Formats: sequence, C-alpha cells, structure tokens
Amino acid sequence: MSTNTILANQSLHRFDGHDKVWLFGYGSLIWKADFDYIERRPARIFGWSRRFWQGSHDHRGRPGAPGRVATLIADPGALCAGMAYLITPEVFDHLDRREKNGYLREIVTIEFSDGGNAQGLVYIAGPGNKAFLGAASEAEIARHIATAEGPSGLNRDYFFHLADALRRMGESDVHIDRIERELRRIAGA
Ligand code: SIN
Repeated sequence: MSTNTILANQSLHRFDGHDKVWLFGYGSLIWKADFDYIERRPARIFGWSRRFWQGSHDHRGRPGAPGRVATLIADPGALCAGMAYLITPEVFDHLDRREKNGYLREIVTIEFSDGGNAQGLVYIAGPGNKAFLGAASEAEIARHIATAEGPSGLNRDYFFHLADALRRMGESDVHIDRIERELRRIAGA
C-alpha cells in the first residue's frame, strides 16, 4: 500500500530561521541530484544501515506491484556512507514530493569524509510506514528488484546506479554487494 508523507514533512522542521540546511542522501539522492545545491560533500552517518526494505509504488514500482528501494534501519555501531548536500529550505518542497512514499525527515549528525560534522536532515522510511516491505534475504531482494519497474524506470537501474556511485566514492556496503552479485547472476542467466 502506498502512503503520502508530504504534509507530515511540511509540518516538521521549520528550519528555525536557517537559510541553509545540510541534507544527507544514501539512496537515489546520492546519484540523482535533480535539485539546486550550494555544495556537496561525501559523508557518513552513524547508527544506521542501508537496506532495500522500502516499497516503491510511485517511482520503481506500481500500486499492487511495488519495487524495492533504500531506507535506513537503526543499527547501533553501524555506519552508512552517502552524500551530503547544502541546500536552501525551499528545496524541500521538491524533495518532500519526491520522497513522499513513506519517508519522513529526521535530524542526524553528518560526519564529512574530509573532516568535521554538522547537524542535518535525512529522509527515512521507518518500519511503521504503509509502503514498508521489511526484511528479506539479499537473494530474495535481488529477485524482486530484477523484475520490478515503475514510472521512473527499471528497479534494477535504481540499484545499479547506487552500487556504481558507492564504488566511485570508494565505499562498500555488504548488503549492496550481496544483492549486486545475485542481481548480476540473474541478469546474466
Ligand atoms: C535517499 O536517497 O537519501 C533517500 C532514498 C531515495 O530517495 O532513494
């Protein structure tokens, strides 16, 4: 089932008069920056793991046949690598629409790869949201991603763009590596 978090996000974080805000991206926000930003820096956040446990009914799947996209799961001791963008608050109008299927903005501490840190926001689709699909083995996730598609294109293109972007950044993620191996095996079959 799909969901719509635009209004919930608009009522959150009024930015307290800040004219610039850091946003941390860990999924498509790493490789698809279809918004204006002032600056971007590779970064990581602690206590979260990237998982393909969120359903996509609006981008990489359809109502009744969702695809699987990335979300973050609380995981003490873990770190998640991604990209931080410095943006103006108006950009959230676009981002809230883009991330509307279950993602809520949360405040995190962003550690920049070249040093220093800042408070910022991250979109997380938590286990309570209606589009959440939940845990599955990496082999099952790969089989699901292999066949799903939606208005934004093939689910596997989303996945491979992310895997390639992490490689270019010199980052590895065991969950992504396992899904990628299986997905390439299926695609080559
Ligand atoms: C993100 O990239 O940070 C959120 C999930 C997505 O849009 O893929």
